[in-house]
Amino acid sequence: MNLEESSPEKNKKINIAIDGYSSCGKGTLAKQLAQHLGYIFIDSGSMYRAVTLFILDQEIDPQDEAAVEARLSDIDIRFDLNGDSGRFEVVLNGVSVESRIRDLRVSSQVSYIAKISAVRRKLVEIQQKIGFNKGVVMDGRDIGTVVYPNAELKIFMTASSEVRADRRYAELKQAGQNVTWQEIYDNLVSRDSIDSNREDSPLTMASDYRVLDNSNLSREEQFALAMTWVSAALNEIG
Ligand code: CDP
Repeated sequence: MNLEESSPEKNKKINIAIDGYSSCGKGTLAKQLAQHLGYIFIDSGSMYRAVTLFILDQEIDPQDEAAVEARLSDIDIRFDLNGDSGRFEVVLNGVSVESRIRDLRVSSQVSYIAKISAVRRKLVEIQQKIGFNKGVVMDGRDIGTVVYPNAELKIFMTASSEVRADRRYAELKQAGQNVTWQEIYDNLVSRDSIDSNREDSPLTMASDYRVLDNSNLSREEQFALAMTWVSAALNEIG
């Protein structure tokens, strides 16, 4: 065994929180980092989307807070490792729902569900358990402020609304969905506004975030920049 392999710092793990606006590539960066570091990647938005799917399937109005709250105990959310993709996928009451949570039906309602404090309490508790032993990259809106306030690295991602709409439109078209660019643009502007202005855990950039505007950065460039922050964070705990 050489010195590097035996050095204790090599085994030190951190939690990485990635927050930011809709469709700005948080998941892409989180996946890149988790893969490179051998960490777990968790998309916290998929949990809010899974709750929304359940509520819509039950024909409950997502804006009827009391009705949503009354059904929360019927909702079990967990993550299962998908052997093919190597990703942890969200499982709703025992069924993987990854393929059903990204369409506009869910996207148009999810921010109403995410405003409800009882929903947030339930999901944040699960998210905190997952990160207890470190080695997690989680993306969302409140990860660095509420879920992991002590995360060793917090990244706030942003990009222009047009660039974000372009990316999400291409993604959904690729998945064979029948949507217009304008619908996507309107949905992300509306979600950003609800997410930033809600009372409980709004999307905000605290001063301890590193800011990454990737409007003009390639995937490789954003990864390289984020890795310099990871190295600095690892050095700090070393
Ligand atoms: O991938 P995209 O940026 O479209 O959104 P997402 O990460 O899947 O999150 C969907 C929605 O869930 C957001 O618009 C928020 O309303 C909510 N969310 C939240 O409130 N807190 C989180 N930590 C993650 C998502």
